[in-house]
Amino acid sequence: MKDFYLTILRDQTTASEVFRSTAKQLGSLLLAEAAKEIPMHEAEVETVLGTASGKKPACRIILVPILRAGLALLPTALELFPTAPIGMFGIRRDEKTVEPRLYYQNLPPLTSDDWILVLDPMLATAGSVSLALEKLLEAGARPDRVSLISIIASKLGVETVQKRYPAVKQIIAAVDPELNRDKFIVPGLGDFGDRYFGT
Ligand code: PRP
Ligand code: URA
Repeated sequence: MKDFYLTILRDQTTASEVFRSTAKQLGSLLLAEAAKEIPMHEAEVETVLGTASGKKPACRIILVPILRAGLALLPTALELFPTAPIGMFGIRRDEKTVEPRLYYQNLPPLTSDDWILVLDPMLATAGSVSLALEKLLEAGARPDRVSLISIIASKLGVETVQKRYPAVKQIIAAVDPELNRDKFIVPGLGDFGDRYFGT
């Protein structure tokens, strides 16, 4: 199904309402994959007929979308983790230099036990995500308890995150080979934020 959803997102003729609903479907597959990494402990519950053994997350899960495109993955993440606190980074690439600029940061107090899901559908040069990871670690996050959820990444972006933050887990639907002169992912899907928000 991932490839099917990706094909719809990549298609430049996909209308904005279909782009939004498809990003949601694909996001839920990626988040379900990310959830497998979260440590669980055994838990017992009483059913009406007896005791059943089950599992519950062994730590707090924190959702951290990178504005603005990361907001596309937030509603799905909240369906899966309805009690999760939400932190946010507003990061925008400069159109000329491609340097990421942090214009907003608001994180809940973090502990080294928290499991952090960073949401950003596009990983190109990895500048934006690297800045977010740097700020998260400064705020007390542990790199081996951070999962990055992206829809499309460039090969360079994946390798850069691996090199800078080897313990961070990357859950990505597709890794594309190239970046163009403007540091857009090729073939990619274009500007995710513009297509999702209709700007
Ligand atoms: C996009 C995307 C990532 C970033 C990826 O955001 O959502 O955050 O670019 O590029 P990088 O890996 O080279 O840093 P953009 O800066 O366009 O802002 P937006 O989400 O507000 O559209
Ligand atoms: N941001 C996007 O939305 N698309 C790209 O290809 C690169 C950065």
